[in-house]
Amino acid sequence: MKITVLKETLPGEARVALMPDSVKKLVALKSAVIVESNAGLGAARTDDDYREAGATVSPDRGELLESANVLVTVNRPPPEVFAELKPGAVVLGFLRPLDEPQALRPALAGGLTTFAMELIPRITRAQAMDALSSMATVAGYKAVVLGASQIPRMFPLLMTAAGTVPPARVLVLGAGVAGLQAIATARRLGAVVEGYDVRAAAGEQVRSLGATFLEVDLGGIKTEDAGGYAVELSEEAMQRGRDLIAERAKTADVVITTAQVPGRRAPLLVTEEAVNGMRRGAMIIDLAGATGGNCAISEADKIVERNGVTIMAPTNLAATVPVHASQLYSRNVTAFLSLLIKDGELSIDMTDDVVGPSCVTHQGEVVNSRVAAAVGASIRPG
Ligand code: NAI
Repeated sequence: MKITVLKETLPGEARVALMPDSVKKLVALKSAVIVESNAGLGAARTDDDYREAGATVSPDRGELLESANVLVTVNRPPPEVFAELKPGAVVLGFLRPLDEPQALRPALAGGLTTFAMELIPRITRAQAMDALSSMATVAGYKAVVLGASQIPRMFPLLMTAAGTVPPARVLVLGAGVAGLQAIATARRLGAVVEGYDVRAAAGEQVRSLGATFLEVDLGGIKTEDAGGYAVELSEEAMQRGRDLIAERAKTADVVITTAQVPGRRAPLLVTEEAVNGMRRGAMIIDLAGATGGNCAISEADKIVERNGVTIMAPTNLAATVPVHASQLYSRNVTAFLSLLIKDGELSIDMTDDVVGPSCVTHQGEVVNSRVAAAVGASIRPG
């Protein structure tokens, strides 16, 4: 069975889907791994590193695709890549099936079996495959480092002969995977940190990292679903949160926003007025830019200035830490692939509680009901 890795083509993408360490594991599972030349360079891995791990390296993209049984990617490949794969081939990556379902039509037409890393259920058995958490961890870390390098102040409290330098104040909105990593990183750099989330369970986690949890009286409403995810709140409840955030943002040096509600536009947490009330030299890093942003005036992948406050909304921050982001992603992908490989052959068990829910298209049909509704295709009977 041939597992193919291409060089990613999305602008700014430096990650690679498989690192040499993972290649070794897949070769041990009796798979052949074929890597496009220079695919790993952005993540500091050379073609020789891949060869030493047991992969074959080739510059011929067309031939790589034609012979592939499984294509592993970071980002969803362009339509021409789907078109070159043979029917029955498997594609695995961040395919954005719920954000851009139409883009998977070529995969459906080509009879490809597609698995979206975003759809892997967050059950205990699949924890090693949770690429969303891996990338959120990297992004949360990098957001703080970015903020620390951009603001005109230092983070730690310093007592020097020339006087005392007060610590930076960091406000983190949304205390899920990215938010908690941001809190932990900002604390390590010596900042005074406040965290906010609508899920009550987040309070203990925020406090355990040495930050203050901002409590908002939401009137006892339900804020999370059975899976532990935040739900969309009423306008009144949202407004209470926004008022507190606007107040706390006045003294913050860096505001990092990470709030998301699965399948919905990101909640608006930092209003224009809140930005106007912030100090000159302060900064907002909005990690929800890809789903509309948590800040009213942030623009995805742009830097906006407002009265001396800088607002950034990088949508692919994980790609700016390509070595570790690739390493984590590669391990997540390899753990998932190990479910699809039996004795060196592809063996797809759609009744498996991780494999089935992660599948988007299979044998010319859409398997995920939300994607099926969006592309107007019939759903494969389960
Ligand atoms: P996410 O990326 O969907 O959202 C980030 C955070 O934003 C969440 O903590 C959410 O509660 C918060 N949020 C949503 N609306 C908000 C609002 N209006 N105001 C303030 N905050 C708001 O979430 P993520 O980071 O993917 O994880 C969410 C949950 O899933 C957490 O409970 C986490 O512990 C859990 N989880 C469980 C895993 C497992 O069991 N394997 C793996 C990863 C996460």
